[in-house]
Amino acid sequence: MYALLATLIASVAIVPLLLHWLSPYFIQDFRYFIIVVRKSFEVKSYARSVPYYSVLDRFLDMVNKHPDKPYIIFEHKTYTYRDVDKQSNKVARVLMEHVGVKRDDVVALFLSNEPAFIWFWLGSVKLGCAAAFLNYNIRAKSLLHCFACCGAKVLIVGSEFKSTVEEVLSELREQNVTVYFIDDGSIMPGCINLSGKINQASDEPIPQSQRKDITSKSTAVYIYTSGTTGLPKAAIINHARLWLGACVLGSIGVNSKDVVYVNLPMYHSAGFMLGFNGATAEGATVILRRKFSASQFWDDCRKYNVTVIQYIGEVLRYLCNVPKKDNDRDHMVRLAIGNGARPEVWKEFLNRFGKIVVREFYGATEGNIGFVNYTNKIGAVGRQFFLHKLAASYAIIKYDSEKEEPIRNSQGLCIPAARGEPGLLVCKISSMSPFSGYVKNEKQTEKKKLKNVFRKGDLYFNSGDLLKVDKDNFIYFNDRLGETFRWKGENVATTEVSDILSMVDCFEEANAYGVSVPGNEGRIGMAAIKLREGKEFESNKVCKHVMSHLPGYARPRFLRIQNSLEITGTFKQMKGKLVKEGFNPATIQDPLYFLDESTKNYVPITQEIYNSILSKEMKL
Ligand SMILES: *[C@@H]1O[C@H](CO)[C@@H](O)[C@H](O)[C@H]1NC(C)=O
Ligand SMILES: *[C@@H]1O[C@H](CO)[C@@H](O)[C@H](O)[C@H]1NC(C)=O
Ligand SMILES: *[C@@H]1O[C@H](CO)[C@@H](O)[C@H](O)[C@H]1NC(C)=O
Ligand SMILES: *[C@@H]1O[C@H](CO)[C@@H](O)[C@H](O)[C@H]1NC(C)=O
Repeated sequence: MYALLATLIASVAIVPLLLHWLSPYFIQDFRYFIIVVRKSFEVKSYARSVPYYSVLDRFLDMVNKHPDKPYIIFEHKTYTYRDVDKQSNKVARVLMEHVGVKRDDVVALFLSNEPAFIWFWLGSVKLGCAAAFLNYNIRAKSLLHCFACCGAKVLIVGSEFKSTVEEVLSELREQNVTVYFIDDGSIMPGCINLSGKINQASDEPIPQSQRKDITSKSTAVYIYTSGTTGLPKAAIINHARLWLGACVLGSIGVNSKDVVYVNLPMYHSAGFMLGFNGATAEGATVILRRKFSASQFWDDCRKYNVTVIQYIGEVLRYLCNVPKKDNDRDHMVRLAIGNGARPEVWKEFLNRFGKIVVREFYGATEGNIGFVNYTNKIGAVGRQFFLHKLAASYAIIKYDSEKEEPIRNSQGLCIPAARGEPGLLVCKISSMSPFSGYVKNEKQTEKKKLKNVFRKGDLYFNSGDLLKVDKDNFIYFNDRLGETFRWKGENVATTEVSDILSMVDCFEEANAYGVSVPGNEGRIGMAAIKLREGKEFESNKVCKHVMSHLPGYARPRFLRIQNSLEITGTFKQMKGKLVKEGFNPATIQDPLYFLDESTKNYVPITQEIYNSILSKEMKL
């Protein structure tokens, strides 16, 4: 009897040891897998509850639980959970009574990272409406496009963006769109000032009946992504998806005692879904900043006892570039979550700012697959764990970069990439990992789908990213496919830039791409241009056009004038070679120009300019 028991205990104890020996990461893999499974069951149980339990309901529970706890701290002002609830009730009432917003309408927000963003988001969802978060860097044609594609009839504008909206006001009026401002300054004729109305509105709760019949599948927000081609697209974020984003912080151990620093833009999913909603779901405190500032970063962290920070690769690099200080390690930050951390920058960051646990993750706003680095492997974005792989049905498949399509075998099916070989990440579209697509953009939605991957008739989401898995099952990000590049934390769709450049008189054709600059994350915009027959390069005109149509991060800072633009066998523009050749005047024969933002002109790239860019004397 005892012998039996002893054997039993021994064997139970030995199982984890054995597994640990088989794979030193088994326990971590398994533990993380269990957390993910638990979280997805949680989200599924919300979906089944009647009435639906949304992220808003969680917020309201938190209001009941600790009404006087600081929720949002912004520019020296503290708003408690109760304050935010009341303020969003007022906004909801104004939206309903003065703006005429009805159930299922879409409210478009053109606001910076400020408390009003939160009042309007909560106000909209309290009315059973969706909010569309416009990227405040966009302008002109892109702005009109983004606004129109989500089907909104109302545009709420923050004071800083008055002039941007002024440029397109007449077009908006033609479409019968009413523009509302929420500021105290002078407003344009025909626009309505909401701040007085909000102050006077009642802060009584909005009855739950306003949002009855909302389900996990109802649209909560539209978040714009560059996708792979064309103008920005509005990705549909339904309530279930919002919950999944909001669970990420909880799954890596963030709790109500944490203070979360949100300085990434909330019009992106990282800032809004992960950061802001993640903190809300745990009942934590949010330190909200209008913009990231490297020089203020640690002062803010010290002042507010920040414990959790978010980053993109650039953030870590900028923080490391600030001159060293004695109090660099004097802070309470324990956890950092984000993506794009380069191993060398990451090491430097840890050496300088002390022991901070980093959770690097991979995911896309509209994607149906994500990974989190939950181990101590520098450089990896996650781990391939057989149970996760089984549950999520993702795969990394062989990809032909020349033809820009997956490699298929004689039966027309895709082939899994070998260990260590970069391949295209695809993930099966199913009820477990759904893909909601882009609103009113069937063509682009279809483009993100890949058919006949491993079986005739199956359907996968095409991430557009190349990843690789090493022999120990660590997953690494390798590259993004040619149609987009990332600069200053924003995705840029090359076709959008090419389209805008093609509008210039003297250009016949343009091919935009991104080139890397040593010492910088991501790729900076560049374009190859073919001039129109008999036309000169009119640098001033081109510059003016680029500056008024494209946000700073999307502007081609380098132009390369070619006699003809190369195309592939399938009539796609060739980018690979151009990307590799970069912008060095010593090795490129074609005329090269540099967008000098100080003189607002394209100037020929001299060796001197080239050197000053490499030595970082010239800021990009
Ligand atoms: C705008 O409203 C006017 C008057 O109600 C109407 O005649 C016109 O068709 C509307 N335009 C659009 C684009 O909806
Ligand atoms: C907008 O409303 C606020 C609050 O009532 C007021 O202080 C401000 O003067 C108004 N702005 C304009 C231009 O009317
Ligand atoms: C930060 O923590 C310190 C020590 O724990 C405390 O004295 C201080 O009041 C805290 N500051 C804030 C803003 O919570
Ligand atoms: C993954 O996390 C570990 C520990 O938190 C960290 O040391 C490592 O740098 C991370 N990897 C990346 C790419 O951030």
